[in-house]
Amino acid sequence: MNRKKMTLARHVLEQQKYSPKATGELSSLLIQLGLAAKTIVREVSRAGLVNILGLTGETNVQGEAVKKLDRFANEVFVEAFGYGGLLCTLISEEMEKPLHLPENCPQGHYTLLVDPIDGSSNIDVNGIFGSIFSFQKRPEGEAHGTPEALLRKGSEQIAAGYIMYGPSTMLVYTVGSGVHGFTLDPGVGEFFLSHENIRIPTRSRAYSVNQGNYRRWAPEVQRLVDDFSGRGDEGERGYALRYAGSLLADIHRILLEGGIYLYPGSLDQPEGKLRLLYEAAPLALVVEQAGGRASTGTESILALQPKNLHQRVPLFIGSPEEVARAESFIRSRRRKGINDSGGERLP
Ligand code: AHG
Ligand code: MN
Ligand code: MN
Repeated sequence: MNRKKMTLARHVLEQQKYSPKATGELSSLLIQLGLAAKTIVREVSRAGLVNILGLTGETNVQGEAVKKLDRFANEVFVEAFGYGGLLCTLISEEMEKPLHLPENCPQGHYTLLVDPIDGSSNIDVNGIFGSIFSFQKRPEGEAHGTPEALLRKGSEQIAAGYIMYGPSTMLVYTVGSGVHGFTLDPGVGEFFLSHENIRIPTRSRAYSVNQGNYRRWAPEVQRLVDDFSGRGDEGERGYALRYAGSLLADIHRILLEGGIYLYPGSLDQPEGKLRLLYEAAPLALVVEQAGGRASTGTESILALQPKNLHQRVPLFIGSPEEVARAESFIRSRRRKGINDSGGERLP
């Protein structure tokens, strides 16, 4: 079949042959996800016209202002998976507690973890944002809804990916046998394979970070970013700075062109900002499946045992050589005991 005409549904079914983790059930869930994506796109593409911009006036479990589109997208995911019998639990950035779907649970073994809109600050300026998703399977013999059933390591995800509402809409997913990207043809209303078996460049002189946090970082992180920005001791030319303000958009660029994204912990917030279960872990699986790496700065994101649903984690993710460089920089500086807590000041 012409790969360009390979639909998402067909591809997911074909993946079952190659991936021991892919089952017919998982295929149905991923196809359902494509439907949720198309429903969100329909609103996003005419956002300025349909009273979907701006705030709801509420704050979410993270203490962050909820935008109307955050709430709308959350409702789309709840509705899309509320029937069909396969999804037992939905965990979302926008809901403090897991949503259990008891009528599905007798036969539904799956949990969906989702950041319905990642990059909310871009909504009102027609910038890029998206949705991040991860599917977990309830362990054999485990009752549903227990902490043991829900707090699974990233390495146990059975599928993960993101949908990006950009100039074109893309859905990128992995079921553990490579990373594949699809582009929505709006005329046909279908996702078609456009990026087969994405491989991340092993290195690239590009970095993504919110450098406004510089003064809040530990000295070893300040030195690392000094190095990336060309202010380091090595006297090397700096890396190009690219920061979209949406984790998945920054990572999409890095997946295709290489580089590193970092959201380190800070002195006042050592765990950083990003959430482990529905931001860092799904993107870590995607990036590692494409040949990259994802780390807290000292350990693998996928090996972390989550302690709670909305846990935050420091994140260093991207091209394998760039992440290895960041890790070894942080380790060696910590070993040397750099303790100039104020660090150097930017002029
Ligand atoms: P969300 O929109 O789900 O709250 O996530 C925003 C995240 C992430 O997408 C982005 O990379 C990061 O926050 C940006 O944070 P800063 O504004 O602190 O740079
Ligand atoms: Mn997010
Ligand atoms: Mn969000």
